[in-house]
Amino acid sequence: MGAYRYVIIGVLILGALSGYLFHPPVPKGLSEPWKYRLVLGVAKITRVLAFVKYRIASRNQTFIDTYRGMYRKHRPKELISGSNIRSKVMNFDGVTVRLYEPIERKEEATPAMVFMHGGGLAFANIDVYDRLTRQMAEKLDIVLVSVEYRKIPEYQFPAQIEDSMKATRYLLTHASDFKVDASRVAVSGDSAGGYLATVIAQQVYDDPDLPNIKVQVLFYPGTQMYDFQTPSHQKCSALFGNDGMLTHQTLAWLGSMYHFGKADFEFMGQVMSNNHTAPSFKQTKRYQKNINHSLIPKELIPDFYQPPPNNTGSDVLWEKIRDVYMDPRHDPLMRDDLRGMPDSFIATCGFDCIRDDGIMYAKRLEQAGNHVEWVNYNGCFHGVLWQGWINFKNGKQMLEDGLAYAKIHL
Ligand SMILES: *[C@@H]1O[C@H](CO)[C@@H](O)[C@H](O)[C@H]1NC(C)=O
Ligand SMILES: *[C@@H]1O[C@H](CO)[C@@H](O)[C@H](O)[C@H]1NC(C)=O
Ligand SMILES: *[C@@H]1O[C@H](CO)[C@@H](O)[C@H](O)[C@H]1NC(C)=O
Ligand SMILES: *[C@@H]1O[C@H](CO)[C@@H](O)[C@H](O)[C@H]1NC(C)=O
Repeated sequence: MGAYRYVIIGVLILGALSGYLFHPPVPKGLSEPWKYRLVLGVAKITRVLAFVKYRIASRNQTFIDTYRGMYRKHRPKELISGSNIRSKVMNFDGVTVRLYEPIERKEEATPAMVFMHGGGLAFANIDVYDRLTRQMAEKLDIVLVSVEYRKIPEYQFPAQIEDSMKATRYLLTHASDFKVDASRVAVSGDSAGGYLATVIAQQVYDDPDLPNIKVQVLFYPGTQMYDFQTPSHQKCSALFGNDGMLTHQTLAWLGSMYHFGKADFEFMGQVMSNNHTAPSFKQTKRYQKNINHSLIPKELIPDFYQPPPNNTGSDVLWEKIRDVYMDPRHDPLMRDDLRGMPDSFIATCGFDCIRDDGIMYAKRLEQAGNHVEWVNYNGCFHGVLWQGWINFKNGKQMLEDGLAYAKIHL
């Protein structure tokens, strides 16, 4: 009898584990569901293995460092036969970048793009992103600068913005060294990188000594950290719970590391219900105008959507974080005046809790008179641009659309 019991327990554990790994919630309408299951399953296995390794072997490393190590790759090649793009690692005013440039040039001075990679400001690096950034440089046949900004939690706000800005400023002020036309420079990024790109475009605009950024190509960007109860947040919390590519909980964790350099559980709990800000602030005209759910098209709002209350929150916590949140670099969507921003391509994903960050920004850019192409890829999840051993058809389309826009507008 005893042996049977262990077999049964073993089967139950294996069943539960494989359920956890390969049977996440997959809502109706999500494109390429089996690829999604596989990629999410592998991401979870990697997380579990990283945790085991951290517990057994890396006494001296943080979990995040061990986890980052699981994705470390070999140095990308500088030259690839048949490719017109050469790449090299350089130092732009103290910031490491990978510079891609055309070997044979068609123009005396080419346009350029500064790219900030995704990974929640905590993960990934310019090597892991080489496959995507090289492809972008090749398809556009321009100079591309991929920025190795410092990561959270070791470095907090505004280190990531400072590094991205330093690299961008260096390119703009040394354009002729790279045979770049400084009046034709784009910024781009995915997810947290899209957030950085958005902030950089605004910062460059505000600096009278720099030529404006001409184009921004933003792939499912984050644009604000005030409102975690947008229609898309409500949709994804209901559909995925804590089991998806980018969950509500993960965002709160990343936000906590961005501000405090660690997981602060009180803050994380408050953030998810928008209780990190004070009612008095939520009731300001400015808040309601800039983070305005009425900008989201009706057909994208779930039936069960509830407008978030404006009479709850924490005065104490708000007092503590207010200065950081009020920094004009912190939340690009909170900028009151969006006139003069670059021509913008903004991609959002239907199954992404931060979809509405991108939509609200796109709508407000448009209202401020900018040229905007906003595309919502309704079947997509957050991270679909990812280029690896599996590619997503929608991600490929999104990339093509973004690059086509850059090609026309640069
Ligand atoms: C562990 O970290 C300490 C402090 O940073 C360092 O002095 C020590 O050499 C490290 N040990 C190993 C085995 O890496
Ligand atoms: C607060 O929210 C309520 C309910 O949605 C709304 O009627 C009211 O106008 C809001 N008050 C302020 C000051 O924004
Ligand atoms: C929110 O957006 C809607 C639609 O554009 C607009 O009618 C409304 O005035 C906006 N609300 C505020 C407070 O600006
Ligand atoms: C948010 O704060 C209000 C008080 O301002 C409280 O009643 C509510 O339970 C809080 N929400 C959560 C999810 O903690």
